[in-house]
Amino acid sequence: MAAKTNSDGTDSQFYLTADTFFPRNANTGLTFDDVTLATQFSRILPRDTVLDTRLAENLELHLPIISADMDTVTEHAMAIAMALKGGLGLVHYNMTEKQQLKEVSRVKNHVHGLIQEPITVTADLSVGDVLELIEEQRYTFSTFPVVDEAGNLTGLLSGSVVKPRYADRRVGDAAIPRASVHAITEKELEPDPIQIADQFFTDHPGINKLLVVDDDDHLKGLFTLSDVERIAMEKSAQFKPARDGEFRLLCGAAVSATRTEAGELDRERITAHVGALLERGVDTVAVSTAHGHTQGVGDSVKLIRDAFPALPIIAGNVTSAAGVEFLADCGANSIKVGQGPGSICTTRIVAGVGIPQLTALYVAAKGAASKGVTLIADGGVTKSGDIVKALTLSHAVICGGLLAGCQESPGDIVEISGKRYKQYRGMGSLAAMKAGSAARYGHNARDTTRKIAAEGVEALKEVSGSVDSVLTQLTGGIQSGLGYLGAANLAELHDKARYLRISAASQHESKPHDVIEVKAGN
Ligand code: XMP
Repeated sequence: MAAKTNSDGTDSQFYLTADTFFPRNANTGLTFDDVTLATQFSRILPRDTVLDTRLAENLELHLPIISADMDTVTEHAMAIAMALKGGLGLVHYNMTEKQQLKEVSRVKNHVHGLIQEPITVTADLSVGDVLELIEEQRYTFSTFPVVDEAGNLTGLLSGSVVKPRYADRRVGDAAIPRASVHAITEKELEPDPIQIADQFFTDHPGINKLLVVDDDDHLKGLFTLSDVERIAMEKSAQFKPARDGEFRLLCGAAVSATRTEAGELDRERITAHVGALLERGVDTVAVSTAHGHTQGVGDSVKLIRDAFPALPIIAGNVTSAAGVEFLADCGANSIKVGQGPGSICTTRIVAGVGIPQLTALYVAAKGAASKGVTLIADGGVTKSGDIVKALTLSHAVICGGLLAGCQESPGDIVEISGKRYKQYRGMGSLAAMKAGSAARYGHNARDTTRKIAAEGVEALKEVSGSVDSVLTQLTGGIQSGLGYLGAANLAELHDKARYLRISAASQHESKPHDVIEVKAGN
């Protein structure tokens, strides 16, 4: 249902549809904070709103959030966490092709609830050593499988003995011996591992760990009762994991428009790599570049489309209707929009190029509508309200900076003056280009130490907890936005969005102001 207006039309004079608002502001580039959305009559409670989105015929998410294909954001741990919440991770390509295949396999083979690489200890350590390890690594658990050098299970060190009073004891003596440890083989877990683990815990009151081994007794994983119970509760949760037809988590991978020594598109290599990704079960590939409206990106998309007709292809980045139409004609299903809005981007400074994100999305949406493709808003999202605004004109958002501080992003935590950070760098930063992403910015990887200008910075993000907690916050905000607009789903959000441009003073008013903020919990 379209938005209702008041009797004399005042509302519709001030709060404008996209097709009125953006052309009226055609001479100014607008981004998220330049605009606010007007509330509409609502019968919808935020918690009842549905955020499902269909990016292509075979690519549906329950949450319209994608983690960026950046080397400080998405590898298997991030992609698993994203898909578990209903979104998607795009595994970056600053690694060898072989490594990327491995990362994708890890997502596709992820058994929900099974900790595939549990932290282990060896028999020769002392319980005191284990206590130190827990302290150093800030582990929140204290039960560890004990393995020998070959990875064979030799026992289980229970949390009940990991105490200072037993510090001098050898792990080998303090642990429950192998013969008394509850373990199950991978084969016995088929066909429904969670259901089988669940039944095991019901049949064995008081046991809260189940170890998984292969036929040779190599440790392969660990189920905990609390995880299994959480998953049982998830079955009735609103946001279900994003899965394929075989109940595996969804996973995307970025691919680059690789060139041969002679500068030609390396057709064989691109086709072989995408083919190998598909064999591993990848659900979409993203041809990711800084400038997608180019011959090279178009040819790469065509090549992949011709070789793999049913594969959902994401391509970009563009900021014009012509760019969207071009990539759609080449065979892309979903187009990434964004040039320069990213938190680590310097494209606008270095190249003087790029379009503020809301204007770019509106213009791109015109191209998308004419070609029947979907749009992904890529970059510049710093809060859930930005996502709501982006989704009025697109079908999903890509987040880099918002997720880079999560424990599931690659990289170590560094501590500076008592605060904990993770590295976050632009794929166009010199360090990232040296590590492989030069082609994304139209450069030759061999030139990375000279001549080329970086288009991104290396930065730090404060550690922000788990993806689960960050996405829970963002989801709440998005649902709230839909509730205010009376939109039950994303299609209704597109329909009901009414925009108002705001002044600098209004931007100030939009944030907490004239108070001393006290952090919750302080
Ligand atoms: P956020 O704002 O979420 O942006 O941190 C992530 C997006 O930024 C893009 N990206 C870059 N853009 N130079 C750029 O101009 C870079 O070095 C760079 N690295 C990433 C990319 O689209 C990503 O999803």
